[in-house]
Amino acid sequence: MATILAARGYADIVLIDIVEGLPQGKALDIAEAAPWTRTSSKIVGTNDWADTANSDVVVITSGVARKPGMTREDLLGTNAGIVRSVVGSAAKASPNAVLVIFANPMDAMCHVALEASGFPANRVVGQGGMLDSTRYRTFISMATGASVKDVAAWVLGGHTEATMVPIVSNATVGGVPLTQLLPADQLAAVVARTQRGGAEIVDLLKTGSAFVAPAVATIEMVDAILLDEQRIVPCCAYLQGEFGVTDGYVGVPVILGKGGIQKIFEIPVSADEAAAIKVAGDAVKELVAATPKG
Ligand code: LAC
Repeated sequence: MATILAARGYADIVLIDIVEGLPQGKALDIAEAAPWTRTSSKIVGTNDWADTANSDVVVITSGVARKPGMTREDLLGTNAGIVRSVVGSAAKASPNAVLVIFANPMDAMCHVALEASGFPANRVVGQGGMLDSTRYRTFISMATGASVKDVAAWVLGGHTEATMVPIVSNATVGGVPLTQLLPADQLAAVVARTQRGGAEIVDLLKTGSAFVAPAVATIEMVDAILLDEQRIVPCCAYLQGEFGVTDGYVGVPVILGKGGIQKIFEIPVSADEAAAIKVAGDAVKELVAATPKG
């Protein structure tokens, strides 16, 4: 993520980790690539939160990744403690930042981050829908043979296999409804592969989870916030009645720009999809209730 973001050239980057030498080494390696990545962005590594002071965006990737056979939900206990402590330090150092949460189980970790930061909910946004939609668009492209550039499709709901809601009703390829392009069985296979997208990579790698697609999907969010692009993108957001979910985080379309989430964007979806988003919201609340407290 840092390598690709540095190449964008519009932001300075600080990498922080508790392991001494690791962020410094990574940052130096990326900095040394600058003559060829042709960036003037500054990048440093540190173990001291003071060096991150007054950041505009903080991306929280801290926590352990799952191993084959594990679900994202299995990481709840371990990662809640890590996210609580990291977000507490990040919020103190950068009280005006937008927090992008990308530790699993992500939707529940947004609640942990909201509480630990004390920030307003529009400045605590989860990354999940962007990655899942990236995968969904790719699988639609593979199944239809169309360029991925012409595929418009969103995944809403939760960032877990059980709660992910790839939206079929408004997915299009070159403006043509996806339902007209793929027979029902192929469509169902694309949806199922999307829901297992993270696990498919974990099963192949065996030692961790995906890197590149999560990185670029997150950078799209950082771009939207720092460049105030006001993108309409799927993010995990705190809802107060939208999509039938009250006082809870779940993936929905939002307008993302300066200051974080500027608006929840309530798009029409089918009745089944709307029900599935509500079920996802309820599942996140159950995970939050099961999260060990500080
Ligand atoms: C994934 C993990 C990072 O979906 O949640 O790849």
